[in-house]
Amino acid sequence: MEKSRNCVQEGSEAVVDLKLVNGSIFFRRKILEGGIAVDNGYIVKVGKEPNLPEADLTLDCTDCFILPGLIDVHVHLRDLKLSYKEDFFTGTAAAAKGGFTTVLDMPNTIPPTNTPENLKLKAYEARGRAVVEVGFLAGLPPTEKDAEELVKLGVFGFKVYMDNKEVKTDISSGSKKLKQLLNIAKKHGLRVAFHAELTSGDYWDINSFLTVHNEECEVKAVETCIRLAKLTGAKVHVCHVSIFKAAEKIIKAKREGVNVTFEVTPHHLFLTEDDLKKLGSIAKTLPPLRKPENARQLYRLVRGGLVDIIASDHAPHTTQEKKESFKEAPPGIPGLETTLPLLFTEVIKGNLPLHLLVRLLAQNPAVIYGFKKRGYIEEGGRANLTVVKRVRWRINPEDFTSKARYSPFKGVEVLAKPWFTVVSGRVVLTKGELTCKPGEGAILLRKNLR
Ligand code: NCD
Ligand code: ZN
Ligand code: ZN
Ligand code: ZN
Repeated sequence: MEKSRNCVQEGSEAVVDLKLVNGSIFFRRKILEGGIAVDNGYIVKVGKEPNLPEADLTLDCTDCFILPGLIDVHVHLRDLKLSYKEDFFTGTAAAAKGGFTTVLDMPNTIPPTNTPENLKLKAYEARGRAVVEVGFLAGLPPTEKDAEELVKLGVFGFKVYMDNKEVKTDISSGSKKLKQLLNIAKKHGLRVAFHAELTSGDYWDINSFLTVHNEECEVKAVETCIRLAKLTGAKVHVCHVSIFKAAEKIIKAKREGVNVTFEVTPHHLFLTEDDLKKLGSIAKTLPPLRKPENARQLYRLVRGGLVDIIASDHAPHTTQEKKESFKEAPPGIPGLETTLPLLFTEVIKGNLPLHLLVRLLAQNPAVIYGFKKRGYIEEGGRANLTVVKRVRWRINPEDFTSKARYSPFKGVEVLAKPWFTVVSGRVVLTKGELTCKPGEGAILLRKNLR
């Protein structure tokens, strides 16, 4: 396709780079039957067909919904020394395949994203390989200087594993290092995300795993998150909340004015302990899958509009690693390619209003982490678009683009498929097939988002 053609030609019809036509557009909280024109990476027109300009490339969106580019705020793209599990190309291609235009990469890599040097290394690797937009969360930095520097470089926030020895001892002894980090985050308006579990003891099988990672250890950790947010005034985000009671505490704190948000994952909504017992390591994740009644209650909060974000916690490992004994098998489920199909199926079945799906997967992620010009469809906004088609198919992990070709959702029938994924006007997914080259995506830095 010819790029960078001059947009407005005197005396002739204006020609833009791209247009999407015949779709049901989620536009200003309503459905508009029409199309979208895109030029130079931005949306230039939303409207009925006759009002759209000519375009170099036209995508037919018949039987499709056109949504703002979805944002997954919890993704482990791995790479570097963990590239055997996933790398920036396979991970972001999986995002494109799953309908995500923008992802937030987690810092628990080797080396971890907790110093300016390591962030630069990661951003360099990602720049050459990513096919969607990638932002970074930093891990707990060794020094305050590192933290300040990471903010300057443009991370979207910090991520802290509460169970990490350093932090855990810190929490009981007044959490000096953590408070320092929260103060820096507050100063710059960044959010600190927490893996909220405070466990003790060891496990060797599924039952002892569930005992060690029990409900109470998550509830206690979530209470600590809320306390830290209150104490420091920093924005706090709780990752993958799996316990209804813990979610309720966050909702209550929010009502009282505490700046705390939370996400839930599709696997905690749609799977339970029973799946873990049936599938073993394939369904092993942290926090663990919980009781059926708990999952139902969590889903009720989603439908009640009380949950902030749905994130996949895409946590890829190799099939070989998952075949180790239950104790040795690493926790984590790949979710980039199942999240939208599962959730949009709920929309089609009438279990979840479309406006909530868009709020949970695009609007709130954009607002909460500060992805400016993203999360909604509007003239002048970034041309990040997710087009999803009504089509019946079965989830088959062998077809995943992710290196992690396993899933506890294997065989599940879904009613929707990501059809086109448009990142800054570039079509990286075409009729459900990848049409992207490594490096076509972009690294997002919070400081100068356009
Ligand atoms: C994640 C991973 O594999 O990095 N695993 C998981 O079970 N969720 C880590 C995490 O998000 O806690
Ligand atoms: Zn142009
Ligand atoms: Zn986690
Ligand atoms: Zn995670």
